[in-house]
Amino acid sequence: MPMILFKNLKLVDSDFKGQQPKMAFVVNNGIIQWIGSQNKVPKEYKIKKSVDLKNKLVFPSFIECHTHSVFAGSRAEEFELRNQGISYLEIAQKGGGILSTMRATRQAPANELLRLTQERVDNFLKQGVSTLEIKSGYALDLKNEVKMLEILKKIKGPQIISTFLGAHARPPEFSDNADYLQYLSTQVLPVIKKKNLSKRVDIFIENKFFEKPESLVYLQSAIDQGFEITIHANQLSLSAGAELALELAAKSADHVIHLDDFLIHQFAKSNTVAVLLPTADLYMKCAYPPARKLIDAGALVALATDYNPGSSPSQDLSLVGLLARLEMKMTLPEVFKAYTYNAARALGLENREGSLEVGKNANFICTNAELNDFFYSAGRMPEHSLFIRGREIKS
Ligand code: NIG
Ligand code: FE
Repeated sequence: MPMILFKNLKLVDSDFKGQQPKMAFVVNNGIIQWIGSQNKVPKEYKIKKSVDLKNKLVFPSFIECHTHSVFAGSRAEEFELRNQGISYLEIAQKGGGILSTMRATRQAPANELLRLTQERVDNFLKQGVSTLEIKSGYALDLKNEVKMLEILKKIKGPQIISTFLGAHARPPEFSDNADYLQYLSTQVLPVIKKKNLSKRVDIFIENKFFEKPESLVYLQSAIDQGFEITIHANQLSLSAGAELALELAAKSADHVIHLDDFLIHQFAKSNTVAVLLPTADLYMKCAYPPARKLIDAGALVALATDYNPGSSPSQDLSLVGLLARLEMKMTLPEVFKAYTYNAARALGLENREGSLEVGKNANFICTNAELNDFFYSAGRMPEHSLFIRGREIKS
């Protein structure tokens, strides 16, 4: 790819609090080579193409760091049941919830699953998402977990980061959690590794799902096999997830609704990102996580949709940001940071993505709107263009 000069852009500052007009950057092979005032572009760059961004606002594109976008079937019926007072746990214990999606996903032919997933990915792309995390975890056996992860290799559009979430729930073939996790670590993780299907392992730690002792053994084995870890933690109760995430230096602990002051303090001292998922909290009618306390203590906070058919059947980034502002008292710059740089950190991508700096990917959004037009209307992202590695994406 030839060297491209992007000029006449109004560049948003890295803290999302100010902006500078008449800026430019030089991009080679998708990577930012130089960034500065447009009348100071060094002569040595052999510019092949120059793109005038017409004084539009430019800021890093969004990174959606927690989704369950590959699944078949619907849980609309369960939504009605929950609305009538039956709890998520009760539904799960009767074989519904995650296990009902498991049945549909195991049965789905790979090409149908690919079609469904690509359509959902396209919905994220339209909202300015250049990097998207997708978890497996609705198959819960070797053959079909591999099927899910192989599908992710065929997805077009944004960069996909795959996470192995075999430890999402215990499938009916097993009667003991520790036995199932042992199966995952000895029979499944080595295959995932060998086929290079994922570098990340996730687990749902919660009372009645996976509990502390067996989770610790499993996660330690995943780390020993070279996986990074992330944990669904403290969503329904003050369970051991967040504690283990901090102890094992997980990349992120996600949900984290139930946190005490000690844990908040520990987050602030760690590099583990607290990934907050407020649309799941809306659908689950539970409390929102203590975002203000986490941020004020100095912890890293990211935001994501948690898109899945059960607890968060919404792909709407605007709604996530809106709830973060309305219900969690996050400021607009904090929401932008949570959806860009901090989300990159949650995925371990901060050296390449999440901000516009020399050496990083030229992944950016360009718009005539103002920053405060974002995360304000539910269901609507202001009109914008998305560039991934310097190339405009038509979606
Ligand atoms: O992040 N908490 C566990 N996993 C998902 C829900 C998955 C489901 O209900 O299908 C979550 O909320
Ligand atoms: Fe989730």
